[in-house]
Amino acid sequence: MAIDILKKGKQIDKTFVVDLLESADKSLWDDIFSLADFIREQYMGNAVHLRGIIEFSNICKRSCNYCGLQKQNKQQHRYRMMPEEILKCVSSVAELGIKTVVLQSGEDDFYTLDILVDLIKQIKKNYDVAITLSIGEKTKQEYRALHDAGADRYLLRHETASPELYNKLHPDSCFEDRLKCIKYLFETGFQVGIGSMIGLPGQTNSNMADDILFLQKFQPDMIGTGPFIPNGQTQLKGTEAGTIEQTLKITALARIVCRKAHIPATTATGTIDKFGREKALHVGANVIMPNFTPQKYRVHYTIYPNKRCITEDGHKCNTCIRAMIINEGRTIASDYGHALRFQK
Ligand code: SAM
Ligand code: FES
Repeated sequence: MAIDILKKGKQIDKTFVVDLLESADKSLWDDIFSLADFIREQYMGNAVHLRGIIEFSNICKRSCNYCGLQKQNKQQHRYRMMPEEILKCVSSVAELGIKTVVLQSGEDDFYTLDILVDLIKQIKKNYDVAITLSIGEKTKQEYRALHDAGADRYLLRHETASPELYNKLHPDSCFEDRLKCIKYLFETGFQVGIGSMIGLPGQTNSNMADDILFLQKFQPDMIGTGPFIPNGQTQLKGTEAGTIEQTLKITALARIVCRKAHIPATTATGTIDKFGREKALHVGANVIMPNFTPQKYRVHYTIYPNKRCITEDGHKCNTCIRAMIINEGRTIASDYGHALRFQK
């Protein structure tokens, strides 16, 4: 039985995952969801980790076909926060007792290595928080310098484990480079987050099975998976979004093959389904990222449309998310929520 194989925690192969993804057997999927929830509780506990995200620039030199921040999108109003402004936001995250700040942006060369290193050092000197960076592809030397400055974690989604699909969606970059960056991140000592979009145009069950095997192979410390949502200002306008069903299936399988990973219930999941984040928390997720980007900028970080939590400020987002977590029968973590392999 498929569920017994999953329970054993042995390596699974591609045919097995494709068969699962093609199965419409509701009771099998209910069992898989329960198993994922059980594994999450066993390995990660009941507490949900909060990570305060600051989207500090929406300027990007890249052309990812799915993303509203791509440089070709002339309709996008652009902004860039100065280091002092970013520090102020970090201070609101820390004041609320949130122990991780996630700094995310497009690939914006305004932030030189010196600026980033200085910012990281300032944060570490003044606030008791772990730092996660999500600022795209860099050289190994740059990753090393950012890690040496004090950044703890780095999110760089692999987006899709299919080289053909990846290369099709990224006209100015390639799968091989993404893979190289992910390897550099592990080698430089970061806690590493990877993950894919679910339901990309042209993505097959075979491609999604490859995503699961990719996670199984790399055993990342964090996994960011969420549905693809079409943006009308990109080449993928008018295509279908990923569904909540697919998203929950991939989240559950990600939890089953990576038992010790931190897995967020992503904003995109909460965008395609009003209770998407709540549902994700019950199939393996154990992290939520309240948004601390100042409101005047937040409305312009439009990776995809109708983004969740676009109008609330950080304090409101924090209050609302805490209430939701308690309502789902979970507690709120008060520690840093480092990767398990880094905890003593
Ligand atoms: N520039 C950084 C990078 O490439 O890692 C971080 C910013 S990028 C906007 C963050 C993530 O947004 C991407 O890794 C991608 O998975 C996700 N994303 C972009 N466009 C999306 C869309 N239309 N629907 C869902 N997720 C999307
Ligand atoms: Fe650069 Fe999306 S294309 S952040």
